[in-house]
Amino acid sequence: MTAGRTVLVTATNYSKLCTESKKLFQDSGWKIIENGFGRPMTFDELQDRVGDIDAVVAGVDTWDESVFKIAPKLKIISRFGVGVDNIDVETARRFGIKVTNAAGRNANAVAELTIGLLLSAMRNIPPLHQSVRQGNWDRFVGDELIGRKVGILGFGAIAQKVARKLSGFGVEIHAYDKYPNLEAAQKLNVAMVSAETILQDSDIVCLLLPSLKETHHFMNAQTFAMMKDGAYFINTARGALVDEKALQGALTSGKLRAAAIDVYEVEPAAVDNPLFQVSNIITTPHTAAETYETYRAVGLHTAQAILDEFEGVHPPKGL
Ligand SMILES: NC(=O)c1ccc[n+]([C@@H]2O[C@H](COP(=O)([O-])OP(=O)(O)OC[C@H]3O[C@@H](n4cnc5c(N)ncnc54)[C@H](O)[C@@H]3O)[C@@H](O)[C@H]2O)c1
Repeated sequence: MTAGRTVLVTATNYSKLCTESKKLFQDSGWKIIENGFGRPMTFDELQDRVGDIDAVVAGVDTWDESVFKIAPKLKIISRFGVGVDNIDVETARRFGIKVTNAAGRNANAVAELTIGLLLSAMRNIPPLHQSVRQGNWDRFVGDELIGRKVGILGFGAIAQKVARKLSGFGVEIHAYDKYPNLEAAQKLNVAMVSAETILQDSDIVCLLLPSLKETHHFMNAQTFAMMKDGAYFINTARGALVDEKALQGALTSGKLRAAAIDVYEVEPAAVDNPLFQVSNIITTPHTAAETYETYRAVGLHTAQAILDEFEGVHPPKGL
């Protein structure tokens, strides 16, 4: 019996874009506390709301010991997305709190934006748009994708979709993964190689690793220096994977032709972020998964995980 329980939803846009998942909770007699701030919630904002919650559908706010201590009834954190780097999973386990995510549910949206950013960077689409709107007729010359070598760092759900979608562009694709899925690679005609090979041989590097202690600043001054002169770099994974100062250096020196970035070391990114001082970069505000389709699918998945946990029907496996 799960009626009478309370879920806090810190993911944004819930009322607007997750009506079906809201209904799932309501039909089961749950009370929903929503995030009305339109951004990740601060500790103080969480503090006022977590005292009586049984579950949370978590956005990218920080969930650590300081919050667990003041949420005595909290049983499950159902992450509205894939990356759980904003959640202290080990400590949650210690507090008896299960952590689940929506693995793969937003992969298509992120893969599509990755390719959109890649083409935008290669064909200068944002600067061309801006120039035309300003009454100019700058016709910046771009690069074509056909015949290029694309290297993907990390070959999980999103990367595999990127590879499948890129196969129509006449590119050669190779990828690096610590735990390579050779079957998927073979099906998608992707060669699995070392990280060094990706960096040294790719015309375009797409970063799709998880953000872990061991992958922190995976892209730094040394790894950027290993890349081909004039290569493109796309990061739609996590900001912590990249040393932004090193990326700025690689862009200003001309080592990289251009970069496209959806994620930042600190979010929301401050206006004085060093990356915003260079012209050959395209930026989006952590928006790769922001599609109506994703909100629906992830909303339903996260709500069902919570209901299943309390109904004990098919309790989801924790991370
Ligand atoms: N920009 C966005 O809005 C957005 C949305 C969803 C996911 N993401 C991010 O995209 C990235 C990829 O997500 P995904 O859904 O494809 O994840 P995934 O878990 O399916 O894939 C990650 C891959 O990395 C590999 N891996 C794990 N540790 C590694 C290591 N130390 N070195 C090398 N490879 C390692 C795994 O074997 C796996 O194949 C994650 O960082 C995720 O947080 C971003």
